[in-house]
Amino acid sequence: MSSKHFFICLLTFANTLATELMPKQTTSLRDPRRKVFPFMQKGVQNWDTFLLSKNKKTLYVGARDTILTLDIRTDITIRVKHEIQWSPTADKKDNCALKVKNKERECFNFIRVLVQLNDTHLYTCGTYAFSPTCAYVDLTTFSLVKDAEGKPLLLQGKGVSPYSPYYGNTAILVDGELYTATQENVPGNEPVITRTLGSSSVLKNEHWMTGDATFVASFNIPAPPNDDKVYFFFWETAKEYDFFEKVIVSRVARICKNDVGGKTLLQKKWTTFLKAHLSCAQKGQFPYTVIQHVFAVPHPGGGAFFYGVFVPQWQVGGFWSSAVCAFDLNAINKVFDNGRYKELHQNCSRWLPYKGEAMDPPPGSCSVSPSSDKTLVFIKEHYMMDQTIRPLYNQPVFVKLNVKYTRITVHQTENILGIPYTILFLGTDQGAIHKVVVVGSDAHIIEEIQLFEKPEAVQNLLLSPEKKGHSSVIEQMLHV
Ligand SMILES: *[C@@H]1O[C@H](CO)[C@@H](O)[C@H](O)[C@H]1NC(C)=O
Ligand SMILES: *[C@@H]1O[C@H](CO)[C@@H](O)[C@H](O)[C@H]1NC(C)=O
Repeated sequence: MSSKHFFICLLTFANTLATELMPKQTTSLRDPRRKVFPFMQKGVQNWDTFLLSKNKKTLYVGARDTILTLDIRTDITIRVKHEIQWSPTADKKDNCALKVKNKERECFNFIRVLVQLNDTHLYTCGTYAFSPTCAYVDLTTFSLVKDAEGKPLLLQGKGVSPYSPYYGNTAILVDGELYTATQENVPGNEPVITRTLGSSSVLKNEHWMTGDATFVASFNIPAPPNDDKVYFFFWETAKEYDFFEKVIVSRVARICKNDVGGKTLLQKKWTTFLKAHLSCAQKGQFPYTVIQHVFAVPHPGGGAFFYGVFVPQWQVGGFWSSAVCAFDLNAINKVFDNGRYKELHQNCSRWLPYKGEAMDPPPGSCSVSPSSDKTLVFIKEHYMMDQTIRPLYNQPVFVKLNVKYTRITVHQTENILGIPYTILFLGTDQGAIHKVVVVGSDAHIIEEIQLFEKPEAVQNLLLSPEKKGHSSVIEQMLHV
């Protein structure tokens, strides 16, 4: 939202062992050694949502009052194929003006959800002038699907898209069902994880998250044994610590796809919701507690690593710093499945480890739907795991002082000798991209590219790896 310049930069990287070993270099947009292709569209602002088509030839962009289809087949130009105008009606804008402080900035339709339903249709939702609304996009005509009267078929999007463009949100389509997490009300103090579309019932949460919960990413790992769960990453004010100041923690929440809600209790509510504390800290330093973004790297066997970027809650000495921590999906599931919860002791208003008998099956396991009232009562109160999830190797993969990262994308590859290594692409709040190579426990920046001349946060990073020729040369196209 703070961004004043809206454009996509297309960067291409060709990786070979030689280039990886080059010392750190800084390149600007105009540097002839770096192929950077900026693309702009007059009047189109707030490029909030990116969606890459299955064949990777088209990039769908959700912007302010606009959905664009961009042709990205070549690595030298980006071309607009289609543009849909989708603005709120005058009524909605008038109504919005009464609700918000800054109607010149907020009373638009900021597109925040954009998913591909099938070969011919997208589903999209936006803030719609503080009146969250969804619609279908027909890709054959590239227009919004109309109702019988020929008007765009608009659907209620409360809890799916945020009301305000300032609220965080995340959305993922799994088996034709849309899982979304955002703020469900106008003031933005009612976080909700909800499931819509598809044939299962619409489900939501109880008050299991703090009002300020801010969602940054969501994932489903599409291979057994973990394909039956959906994971949500967010930060929120911790209620379990008794400090004088408010303390922010990062979390991962897990729900099961086969959840149908309770029968008498927890009707239309999740009965498998669990959340756990994610820790990203380095000995002797302030912990990196506020998650900014996450990227998932699935493994062939159904596992995955999640790479998250974190910043501390407070600036230290007037400067930000950032850390990247990797979390093993198995370690996350172990914490969720060990049956150790925290519970609120009403007598002293404290969150303490649950010491009672173990439930069988444990709440949140996706094998059987909990049905007895006793289990549902237990689930309603026991949704926070006692154990903290620690990062891989118990420490950050990469730490950078004096920089605030906003976005991450990760590419795993191997060099010509077959040695695997990981490349992190990190976007900063000052409009730069850092390319970081991780080999074993060693990580260093090999390139810094300043994309924006004026300092502005990188809002989106999308990597479309393309194999060209033999496997050691991989062209990466990075859309920013
Ligand atoms: C794709 O999804 C749209 C919207 O749900 C539906 O109307 C259409 O029939 C679907 N097409 C196919 C080929 O399944
Ligand atoms: C609150 O209750 C728990 C058991 O439920 C007990 O262990 C604890 O001592 C009590 N605390 C106070 C302050 O009474």
